[in-house]
Amino acid sequence: GRVLSVASESVPLVKTGGLADVVGALPAALAATGWEMRVLLPAYRALRPRAADWPVVWQEPDLWGGPGRVLAGEVAGVPLLLLDAPHLYDREGGPYSGPTGDHPDNAVRFAALSWVGAQIAREGLADWKPDVLHAHDWQAGLAPAYLAYHGNGGCRSVITVHNIAFQGWAPAHMLGVLRLPGHAFHPEALEYYGGISSLKAGLVTADWITTVSPTYAAELMRPEFGMGLQGVIAARGPVVSGILNGVDTALWDPGAEDPPFGRKAMAGKAAARTALCTEFGLEVPGPLAIVVSRLTDQKGIDLLPEVVPDFVVAGGGLIVLGSGDPALEGAVRNLADRFPGRVAARIGYDETLSHRLFAGADAVLVPSRFEPCGLTQMYGLRYGTLPVVSLVGGLADTVIGANPAALAGPVATGITFHPVDALAFGRALSQLVQLYRQPKLWAKLRANAMAQPVGWETSARTYAALYERLAA
Ligand code: ADP
Ligand code: GLC
Repeated sequence: GRVLSVASESVPLVKTGGLADVVGALPAALAATGWEMRVLLPAYRALRPRAADWPVVWQEPDLWGGPGRVLAGEVAGVPLLLLDAPHLYDREGGPYSGPTGDHPDNAVRFAALSWVGAQIAREGLADWKPDVLHAHDWQAGLAPAYLAYHGNGGCRSVITVHNIAFQGWAPAHMLGVLRLPGHAFHPEALEYYGGISSLKAGLVTADWITTVSPTYAAELMRPEFGMGLQGVIAARGPVVSGILNGVDTALWDPGAEDPPFGRKAMAGKAAARTALCTEFGLEVPGPLAIVVSRLTDQKGIDLLPEVVPDFVVAGGGLIVLGSGDPALEGAVRNLADRFPGRVAARIGYDETLSHRLFAGADAVLVPSRFEPCGLTQMYGLRYGTLPVVSLVGGLADTVIGANPAALAGPVATGITFHPVDALAFGRALSQLVQLYRQPKLWAKLRANAMAQPVGWETSARTYAALYERLAA
């Protein structure tokens, strides 16, 4: 079968978070199942030169105020359809914002992406007609809605929620501009707080809803996590499922790091730890922990100043790599200033450094308040860098916490804590220090973690089965 994936980000072209990793990894992961996936992405400024000589496979003279053309090609094994509409996407900055903040016309920019996705799904290209349209997050939320309201041409739809915090809201007067019918402006359809939510539109119209972990699927139906959309999702319960993300195990491979290491050859990891301590001027007698993350409220970064002082006294060390909220960046810098030789901060985004951190560290901290799936705890598993995670969303589904039963198993792969507060997080760090002091047990936990499958195989089969069922 054929799937058209519609998204605003994909590695290796454009990434602000895990969404891009997942969108970019799915086509290759699915290939083994017999499903062919192409990814429709806006041709942002930085992407245009690559597509300059790609063939035009679709066009419309007036796509919200200018011409739109779809160019077909492939980058790093990902089959791409780039939507080139310079008046919408040829701009300075990231996918959503420019030098002066969020683009004011984001609702239209992503409606256009969704519109073109729906057109291709409904009518097909000259030689390629999808059986399923797979929309990701609010940016593609209107694609299932356009299929539902303007005809689907036999193409079924699924929407994946990567993060319910972003809901794509636009004022009510945009209904006509967004090419949505008047009857859809209704609380049972896409009306949301007096306006239009493109995520809600996707949730009420798609044939199926997935999110990126089973626990997040269940959480999304509750007021603590649904961020206003819990009722909408709960009402669609029978067509909601959680499918875990995988990680790209070729990209995240301890055997390909410098120096290489693996479950039966851990000397390379010890060498990487030493190199890391030298690079950051650290001397850490206890466990060396890392955080690699967007610095936002979601990620629980504000808890660090409350727990790190005790952790340091107990012998621990910490390196934080991240960027985001200026106040949190400041808090992290402040910790590094307070604890020279034990805590270091690197504000910014650095893929290469992130590999060195996972290779050399003993533990990765992920104290998220909510986490649809999360990828860094899985990098931690694969690199024997024990994840210390809050028990929410995908974190709860991917890490086996070192409770007495799991230790007796012995099946533990990390440390889990709940609720998400400084008290519980602090106790988890104490447990980390205790476990680190027991070399045999520590080695066992690390071996368990590294044996945990975190690739795409199982989830790719689950997606394929879902497409199969929808297309039948
Ligand atoms: P989210 O999508 O909510 O940010 P995920 O854990 O799903 O969380 O994905 C985050 C991705 O971004 C991971 O691949 C992680 O390694 C990467 N990442 C986040 N911050 C940085 C950073 N400062 N430098 C390098 N990689 C980062
Ligand atoms: C979102 C979530 C993250 C998830 C990613 C990919 O950014 O915050 O938990 O891993 O999407 O699905």
